[in-house]
Amino acid sequence: MPTISVQAADARYDVLIEPGVLTRAGGIIQSIANSRKAAIVTDSIVGPLYAQALVQSLRQGGIEPVLATLLAGEAHKNLSTLLPIYNSLLSEQMERSTPVLALGGGVVGDMAGFVAATILRGVPFIQIPTTLLAMVDASVGGKVGVDAPAGKNLIGAFHQPILVLADPLVLATLPPGELRGGLAECIKHDIIRDAAGFADLEKNILRALAGDVPYLTQLIAHNVAIKAKVVAADPYEKAERAHLNLGHTFGHAIELVSQFRISHGQGVSFGITAAAFVAERLGLLAADERQRIKALLEKVNLPTRGLGLDSDAILQAMRTDKKVRNGKIRFILPKGIGHAVMHDDVQAELVREALQSLA
Ligand SMILES: NC(=O)c1ccc[n+]([C@@H]2O[C@H](COP(=O)([O-])OP(=O)(O)OC[C@H]3O[C@@H](n4cnc5c(N)ncnc54)[C@H](O)[C@@H]3O)[C@@H](O)[C@H]2O)c1
Ligand SMILES: [Zn+2]
Repeated sequence: MPTISVQAADARYDVLIEPGVLTRAGGIIQSIANSRKAAIVTDSIVGPLYAQALVQSLRQGGIEPVLATLLAGEAHKNLSTLLPIYNSLLSEQMERSTPVLALGGGVVGDMAGFVAATILRGVPFIQIPTTLLAMVDASVGGKVGVDAPAGKNLIGAFHQPILVLADPLVLATLPPGELRGGLAECIKHDIIRDAAGFADLEKNILRALAGDVPYLTQLIAHNVAIKAKVVAADPYEKAERAHLNLGHTFGHAIELVSQFRISHGQGVSFGITAAAFVAERLGLLAADERQRIKALLEKVNLPTRGLGLDSDAILQAMRTDKKVRNGKIRFILPKGIGHAVMHDDVQAELVREALQSLA
């Protein structure tokens, strides 16, 4: 089975990617976590689909789990939702060695991870991601947290998991729009780090939407390897880890101004398109490379035009993003396909033109 080893700060952990690994989770977790108990955190959509399989497998491995279920969705990713979860886990005699297992997408992973980082001042954390985005992005790297009224992910910590189990079979029930959102992050990874990977996506990416399990397995492994490498080089996002934000400065602002009618994946797709526009103007990207990026996004039905939002409102929202440093908007731009650079002095006029090109 594909196994990617992640080395981040002083933590080292494996990401196992294998069809059916969910039903073998108990034995694997038993061999890694020294505990007869576990706390599963899941959400109201994933729980009914997959919690029973995990519970059964844990019991077979000699681990008795307790289950805590969050209401599904980003709207519930806040501290008040977590309070009853802390209380219920604490009333179950949680110990310092009891692992918290996140079974769900990135929302569950971030929230369960924040619980694991803070309950009893930190307990072992295991990620069992169930969306493509969570498998290739959110479950690796140790960023955990919740949203605040002032913005997304503003309350959080770094807490690396001790294990990540990704089962491509669970993607069969994922809504197609969510799968596309994950593919936007996969496209992003290859643009910033892997020209050959990008060429492979151009040939094969539709196999992901068709639910081709061997292809999905290989795609997840490829993307986890890229994310692992970036995280290992810069675990606390002081430098090159920021490359993972390609398309996200534009994307977050677009999501926000659309009042979240535009999903994260769609926002990132618009954002990558706009970043490619800026990069071409600055001589970082050839015209045909920009065209290839746009064509690949469009191939999986991710949006690159038809935005229909006010450019000035987006520009204004970008200025208040938490990635702004000393009033300058920081951009990650593709440098050819396969590399990225950070730029913090892009002229506002060029940013506006890039946004207008999305209309
Ligand atoms: N920590 C990080 O490094 C990091 C990185 C990227 C994103 N994130 C966070 O991840 C979150 C987005 O994650 P997401 O896109 O996975 O969203 P999500 O967790 O909200 O999942 C999307 C939807 O799909 C459902 N779902 C999940 N798995 C399913 C399955 N197998 N079958 C059917 N339905 C399923 C969920 O219940 C939810 O309704 C955001 O909050 C974002 O901030 C974190
Ligand atoms: Zn993203």
